[in-house]
Amino acid sequence: MTFEEMRLTCSDFAEQAARRLKEKMPVALEKTKGLDFIPYTVKDNAWAPGPFDGICWWTNGFWPAEMWAMYRMTGEQAYRLEAERAENMLDAAFADFDHLHHDVGFMWLISSGVSFRMTGNSKSRKRTLLAANLLAGRFNPAGFIRAWNGDCVGWAIIDCMMNLNLLYWASDSTGDPRFRKIAMAHADTAAKYFIRENGSSNHIVVFDPETLAVKEIPAGQGYASGSSWSRGQAWALYGFTLSFLHTGKQEYLDTAQKTAAYFISQIQEDWIPKCDFCQPENDPLKDACAGAVAACGLLELAKLTESRTYFDAGVNILKALDAQCADWSREYPAVLTNCTGSYHGNDHNIAMTYADFFFMEAILKLRGDHFLFW
Ligand code: GLY
Repeated sequence: MTFEEMRLTCSDFAEQAARRLKEKMPVALEKTKGLDFIPYTVKDNAWAPGPFDGICWWTNGFWPAEMWAMYRMTGEQAYRLEAERAENMLDAAFADFDHLHHDVGFMWLISSGVSFRMTGNSKSRKRTLLAANLLAGRFNPAGFIRAWNGDCVGWAIIDCMMNLNLLYWASDSTGDPRFRKIAMAHADTAAKYFIRENGSSNHIVVFDPETLAVKEIPAGQGYASGSSWSRGQAWALYGFTLSFLHTGKQEYLDTAQKTAAYFISQIQEDWIPKCDFCQPENDPLKDACAGAVAACGLLELAKLTESRTYFDAGVNILKALDAQCADWSREYPAVLTNCTGSYHGNDHNIAMTYADFFFMEAILKLRGDHFLFW
């Protein structure tokens, strides 16, 4: 079966989810009135900002990305205007600089980058190129992109596989191969040092910044060193799929498929990923966000391979998110509720704008909108 044929078998679900989003998101938008921050999570039925880093908080591109997703779904100007308002707010992050990190891909590719691609706004293109140059500037020629500032000189994290798309875009947009070469050097390192033989992924690897020797493998947001944080697994799955899409390098597709096989083998009957696939058996902690990210990756893999296994897994996750984790009420501004920031943190069972964005992105894919935000 082609992807299109598979997709048509799910059109009822996709249309129902889109209808619910169209009813829900005006509420989410209304609740941004008067805010001086970009939404991240929900407290007392109201939007709340990220916990630190101010305007540089790494998820701040996801709210405008949600707005662009809704604009694609409805054509309504209110969403475009809110996306542009948030994009303008993000300029303060360039001026801050000290709190910026490798997540400039999450911040600008899907805000100003999408804005440029959808509207041709030249200011948006400049913002996105500036972000790409910041990311390229974090490259250590030992072979990796440095994640964070301060003492984290040799730290790289699997999430960065998603930020690489900003560099692929920059090379395509400028004709300068430097950005793509940096992205591929990092992806090669990630395939070698993050992905284990069984297809599971480390969250963080600390390298010697001179030699690339592995010094430490911390637990990061997962349960323990050597465990398998499900969102990190989803970043790997979707990230390697996208690296293949942007480069055609077969090793990236092979790696994406290996991580997908592991993800599918670990997900339980309810199709909502545990926070960490290696957490204690009786620990019920889940992460809906990992499911939404993985669903996007699985649908792209299904397009590439025409595999029913990937397609069914992606759709089963989306149906489970809709049935078990979504709050479709008019009081609560976000959609998905059972997201977890990190296993050992306090941020359990919360809403997160990036979970909602990936849910929307997956629904757009299921409705046959093939615009690639990444
Ligand atoms: N480290 C980014 C995330 O929470 O997925």
